Parts: sequence; C-alpha cells; structure tokens
Amino acid sequence: MAIFLDSSRLNEIRKYHAMGILRGVTTNPTILLKEGVTGGIAGIRERVIEVARIVAPYPVSVEVTTNEPQAMIVQACDMAGWAENINVKITIHGPNGELENLPVIHQLETQHDVRVNVTAMMSAQQCFLAAMAGATYVSLFAGRVNNMGYDAVNEVMLLRRLLDSHELKAQIIAASTREILNVVQWLDAGAHIVTVLPNFVDGMIVHPYSKETVKMFLDDAAKNK
Ligand code: E4P
Repeated sequence: MAIFLDSSRLNEIRKYHAMGILRGVTTNPTILLKEGVTGGIAGIRERVIEVARIVAPYPVSVEVTTNEPQAMIVQACDMAGWAENINVKITIHGPNGELENLPVIHQLETQHDVRVNVTAMMSAQQCFLAAMAGATYVSLFAGRVNNMGYDAVNEVMLLRRLLDSHELKAQIIAASTREILNVVQWLDAGAHIVTVLPNFVDGMIVHPYSKETVKMFLDDAAKNK
C-alpha cells in the first residue's frame, strides 16, 4: 500500500498519480471545504466521483457529514455506491464522546458491504477497537498525536503489533502529516499507509545535492562536442 494523497485537488491527484507513487486518496470535510468544494453532498459527490475515476482501482475515502447513527448508515451506503473504490470515513465517536459510531461501523462492514475507514483517532487503543469492530482502515492522526506531546511512532508500533497478533484485517493509515520525515518514519514503525500532503511528496523527491549532481551531468554533457 504505502502512500495515499491527503487531498481532493484534481490537478494534484493527476500529477502524483501519473508518477505511479499513489495507492489511494483520503479526503475529509475540512480538506474539501478548504479546496473549494461547495454545494453540500451534491458537490462532494461530483468531486469524489472524479477523484475515484482518476485513481481507480485504488481507494478513495470520503467522510459522512452527519453524526446521527441511522443517517450515517444511509449516507455511507449512498457514498459507497458512487464508485467501486470508495471507502467511507466514520469518526470513532461523536463530538461529545457519544458511543453510537462503533455499532454503525460494525453494521456497515458486516451487513452493508461498505468498507469503512475509522477516523479521528489519537491512540492505538481506539484503533484496536475500531479494527475489532471490523474496520478496513484505521486512521491514526499521528501528527496530532505528536502535537499533544506523545510520540506517534510508539502508537504505530504498538498498534501494528496488536493488529498482527490478533490477526485483524484492518490497515493502519497514519494521517495528519506535519513534516516530510513523518512519511518514512511512520511506514518504518509499521503503518501500512501514510496519507501525505502534496507538498511533502515534492519534498521527499527533491534533494539539493541531487540538483547539483544533475546540473553537473547536464553541464558536462553540453561540453562534450
Ligand atoms: C486523513 O485521512 C486525515 O483526515 C487528515 O490527514 C487529517 O489531517 P489534519 O490533522 O491536518 O486535519
């Protein structure tokens, strides 16, 4: 798996997809709003279908826009029908810690054939329970974990050991990238996937010493008459 792009911008998705380095895309309501997607569910549907078309068969995550349990199920089933490669994001719990989301996640995975990406998680224990409930992906907001003063690498390592030892199918998505280094660091710690901001991909590719070396090759090639 490895790298997903954390973006809904079509030009960015096309650019990195053409490099052959993407294995999926993640969005959330904040990313969509920031990136100019308007028009409510109709606007989200239009953009996400286009993203899914570009990266197919790789997965695209889209998040429900409600926290009412029955409405989440209806909306998730609708979203999953937009394209074959769509996963639906459900947060681990409600804004006040309401516990109705895990039954929704379990029901979507076991009764509605919807692949769920459980999101907004800050600890291995949250992710472990989401995996037990049947989630296909568990999103650990690793950059936010670091921001709270904990080391996300330890959470990723612990989570990977738990998933492997309990033979749970869930794949770890390490999210909330804050630095270029996060990508290889979290993959090395055991994340199956890191979802990356586009500018960090550029930062992973371009190195000042590579630039200098390429310039030397081109200069010398030009001298060779
Ligand atoms: C991806 O799935 C997440 O929604 C995203 O990485 C969250 O990023 P943020 O913590 O910068 O909002």
